[in-house]
Amino acid sequence: MFKKTLMAIAMSGTMVATSVQAGEVEVLHWWTSGGEARSIAVLKQMVEDAGHTWKDFAVAGGGGENAYTVLRSRAVSGNPPASAQIKGLEIQEWGDLGFLASLGQVAERNNWDDVLPAVVSDVMKHRGEYVAAPVNVHRVNWMWANPAVFENAGVSIPTTLEELWTAADQLQAAGVTPIAHGGQPWQDATTFESIVLAVGGADFFNDVFVEHNASALESDTMIQAFREFRKVKDYIDRGAPGRDWNVATSMVIRGEAAMQFMGDWAKGEFTAANMQPGSDYVCMAFPGTEGEFTFNIDSLAMFKQRTAANSEAQLKMAELVLSPEFQETFNLNKGSIPARTDMDMSKFDSCALASMDTFIATAESGQGLVPSMAHGMSTTSTVQGAIYDTVTEFFNSNMSAEDATTRLARAIRAAQ
Ligand code: BGC
Repeated sequence: MFKKTLMAIAMSGTMVATSVQAGEVEVLHWWTSGGEARSIAVLKQMVEDAGHTWKDFAVAGGGGENAYTVLRSRAVSGNPPASAQIKGLEIQEWGDLGFLASLGQVAERNNWDDVLPAVVSDVMKHRGEYVAAPVNVHRVNWMWANPAVFENAGVSIPTTLEELWTAADQLQAAGVTPIAHGGQPWQDATTFESIVLAVGGADFFNDVFVEHNASALESDTMIQAFREFRKVKDYIDRGAPGRDWNVATSMVIRGEAAMQFMGDWAKGEFTAANMQPGSDYVCMAFPGTEGEFTFNIDSLAMFKQRTAANSEAQLKMAELVLSPEFQETFNLNKGSIPARTDMDMSKFDSCALASMDTFIATAESGQGLVPSMAHGMSTTSTVQGAIYDTVTEFFNSNMSAEDATTRLARAIRAAQ
């Protein structure tokens, strides 16, 4: 029903002509934390330097659920923003509804097909045509650790799941909160998917989160993943429920917790706090996932415009997004790596270089590169929502791992 309404609006040409100034680009995004805000400010400046007006439309809420809700209501009222931070399969969903503008000419003029790896450009295209511009590639399966906290407690930073629980016990015995967690569905799902990767490996991850293969979903490996996930709960503090991800990061920054499991947008917070990787904080693959890469590509999709001036501003912004200058500055602030693989990486730190190496190696070998479920890369928003619900309910109840496995398989089937 909702889809039909949206499609009717997009097709009938009844979109309300907004009385905006020529050359304005309104951008809906959820980049509101310290590191995120510094990153998007770069694009605003570049758009303004190009002579256009930037209308900021920030909707707070990590992971973007709030932003998506607002986007839908703006689209239903026939007044979508010029551009929105949407990604993964959502791009296809909006493309199918007929809302998105073609970036074909900009892409061709600027050789996007040559400078972007296929794993990125595939996501940006709808029926073979570019409709979104990628700003970065985030790696999700990271662990952020405060080395001083580990050292003071005499504990080694873990590299496997087994070591993780041993370290967590030792940290707790030393009076430290081992894991900084924010109890929000998308953050639960972010940790859960890293555990699925650690327990089952990349092929299993794909079977579960991309293919939704019944035998993988109902397997003992899945039960094991839920069991491991439940253990996280023993090592988080009482303030975790509802906590925003960047508040959890600041616990690690301030030494109030030893580690956080989060994608490398967390690095943007360490950078904004003037901390140096290697000495002030440590980035390591989520325990048990070294050499694997869960990707999350941020992108700005462009909505059809009613005036030539606004379309021009929008196309200019798309061009700027792919410029080496933007890709460098934005990603230095954001914690991610550039979407272009032909960039000079000399200004990037050791975490970014490790990320780039693993990204390229996994893309080339075809082994270990997996799309993030928690960040909309692996499946539809409906299936993702069903996974979020089950994972969060499990985490916040006494549901057994066996029941969670059965329920997850059922929920995914129903949502497909
Ligand atoms: C986005 C990141 C963002 C993070 C926290 C992720 O889904 O891809 O760009 O920083 O959510 O809001």
